[in-house]
Amino acid sequence: MFGKIIGTGSYVPERVVTNTCLEQYVDTNDEWIRERTGIARRHVMEQETTKDMAVLAAKRALEMAAVAPEEIDMIIVSTLSSDIALPSTACYVQDKLNAKNAVCFDLNAACTGFILAYNTVQTYMAAGFCKTALIIGAEGLSKLVDWSDRGTCILFADGAGAAIVRADETAVFDTVMHADGGQGDALTMKTGFAERVRGIDVEPGVEVLEANQNILNEKDTYIGMDGQAVFRFAVKQVPTCILELMEKCGIKEEDIDLFLLHQANERIVKSIVKRIKTSMDKVPMNLQEYGNTSSASVPILLDEMVRQEKLKKGDRVIMAGFGAGLTWCASYLEF
Ligand code: UT7
Repeated sequence: MFGKIIGTGSYVPERVVTNTCLEQYVDTNDEWIRERTGIARRHVMEQETTKDMAVLAAKRALEMAAVAPEEIDMIIVSTLSSDIALPSTACYVQDKLNAKNAVCFDLNAACTGFILAYNTVQTYMAAGFCKTALIIGAEGLSKLVDWSDRGTCILFADGAGAAIVRADETAVFDTVMHADGGQGDALTMKTGFAERVRGIDVEPGVEVLEANQNILNEKDTYIGMDGQAVFRFAVKQVPTCILELMEKCGIKEEDIDLFLLHQANERIVKSIVKRIKTSMDKVPMNLQEYGNTSSASVPILLDEMVRQEKLKKGDRVIMAGFGAGLTWCASYLEF
C-alpha cells in the first residue's frame, strides 16, 4: 500500500531581497536576472534558521491534514543547509512538534531531495513499516552562497515546504530516479571539516603533508556552480526522465493535470515544457517570487497549489527535481 498527501504547509522568511538590491553586492542588474532566470525577488532569513523554518512548515501541514503529532511515525527532512548536523534536523523537528512516535532522519540529495524523501516514505509504506509520514524540504541557502559570486547569489534563497503522507489503499505511486556522480563537479560545496586537520598532532613526515593538502580555500566552502553545465544537464535529462516515467506508468501528457518542477530557472522550465509537449497552464512557477530554494522549491509550490485550490482531490501530478550530485528524478501521484 502506498500513501497519499493529505496536508501541505510552507514557510518563507518575510525579508525580501529584490534584484535591484543585489546590485550593491555584485555587478548585475534587474533586467539581466529577469531575462536569464525569471527571478524578480527572493526571501532571505533574518532571525530564522533552517531548522525552525522546517518546524513552521510542518506545523502548517499538520494543521491542514488534521493529524496529531503523535500519529506521525516517520519524519524525513531533506536539506543540504541545516544549521545543525547533529542531531538531525528531523530529530529537532520531532522534538518541537512532540511527535514522539516518529523515527527521524535527514536526507541530502540537493534540489532533488524532497522528491526522494517522498519516494522513501512511499517505499516504507509499501513495505508496511510506516503509516503516517511527515516530509520536509528546508533550506537556508543565503548562508551558503558567496555574496560576491554573481553566478550563484542571484539564484539561491531560503524557505521550507512540508507534506503529510498517509497510507491509503487507493494511493497511486511510481517513480524514475537517477544520479551521476561523475558530473559532481558541476555543483559543489565543501564542508570545511578538513580545516580541523590543522590542529591534529601528527607524526612528522607524510601525514603532515597529507594534512596540509586537505586545507580548504574558504571560497570552496560556499556553493560553487558551473551554471551552463547544470543548465545543459537539466534541459536534457529532466524531460527525458519525465517521459520515461509516463511511459513506465502508461500515461500520456493529457492524463496529467499538473507538473510540479523544481524552480531553478524559468528558461529551464520552459524548455522542459516544450520537450514534454505540454502547456505552461499545467506547469506553475513561483521562482519569480522565491528564487531557487533547492529542496524546498517543490513542496513550497505544492503547498501554494493546494491553498490556491489549483490542485484538487483526484488530480494527477508529476513532480520532478534535479540538482547537485548530479541527481534527478520524477514521481507520479494522484492527489
Ligand atoms: O537547482 C539546480 C541548480 N542550478 C541551476 O539549475 C542553474 C542552471 N543554470 C542557470 O540557471 C544559468 O546558467 C545561470 C542563470 C546561472 C547563468 O545564465 P546563463 O545564461 O547560462 O549565463 P552565462 O553563464 O552564459 O553568462 C552570460 C553572460 C556572461 O558575460 P559575457 O561573457 O557574455 O560577457 C556572464 O559573465 O552573462 C554574464 N553574467 C552576468 N551578468 C549580469 C553571469 N552572471 C551574471 C549576472 N548578472 N548575475
